[in-house]
Amino acid sequence: METTTVTHKLIAGNWKMNGSLAGNEALLQAILAGLDADTAAVDVAVCVPAPYLAQVQALCTGSPLAWGAQDVSEHEAGAYTGEVSAAMLRDFGCRYVIVGHSERRRDHGESDEAVARKAQRALACGITPIVCVGETEVQREAGQTEAVVKRQLAAVIHTVGHCVSEIVVAYEPVWAIGTGRTATPEQAQTVHAVLRAQLGAAVPEPRRVRILYGGSMNAGNAAALLAQPDIDGGLIGGASLKAEEFLRIVRAAV
Ligand code: PGA
Repeated sequence: METTTVTHKLIAGNWKMNGSLAGNEALLQAILAGLDADTAAVDVAVCVPAPYLAQVQALCTGSPLAWGAQDVSEHEAGAYTGEVSAAMLRDFGCRYVIVGHSERRRDHGESDEAVARKAQRALACGITPIVCVGETEVQREAGQTEAVVKRQLAAVIHTVGHCVSEIVVAYEPVWAIGTGRTATPEQAQTVHAVLRAQLGAAVPEPRRVRILYGGSMNAGNAAALLAQPDIDGGLIGGASLKAEEFLRIVRAAV
């Protein structure tokens, strides 16, 4: 029987291709200093460029801040120059990996099936994939939002089967990413409810699968988005590069 229990909200930073050894250290120290007994009610993570995973592991092991990567190979090992495997991410203590971010779908031609295989590789190594789905502006205007996000999630459900209970989903409307144009809480909730229903057909406890919103989420709009019944956290790009702003989003999720 479905329970109404929802696990902790998750606030995950997506640093994208930003950072430096010196800058990361300052940012991480400031985030760590702001995590306290109150924020323990929220799961907090940063998804960093692969070269910095060792640094983040060194600075964050034993802290409440988890970390992850922004992509993973769909292959296990071998002749895949430039790729990073899920086992390598596990070596560096990753709890999460983002898969299928719209920037990778767009710039690297990642298909729904490739994204699903990446999610499967992550799960096989005990890493939680944060599976991104979302429509472009043209698709929204054509009334295709629901069909697009359902197709993207269906590929993952088809590939990972009942293990879909172990994933995190991130709804990121492409038109809201990095644009300052956030989906309204109602627009986001409508899509999250569609995704929740789709998960409900695949797993017995769909409320335990966290569905994050991403796309220009910031300290000013986070509370209203996170108050929606099917929004279980955020995937934060630009606002995750500023410690105080990121911490304000974390506190909005308490
Ligand atoms: P943004 O990015 O918060 O800068 O819009 C979110 C994302 O792309 O994950």
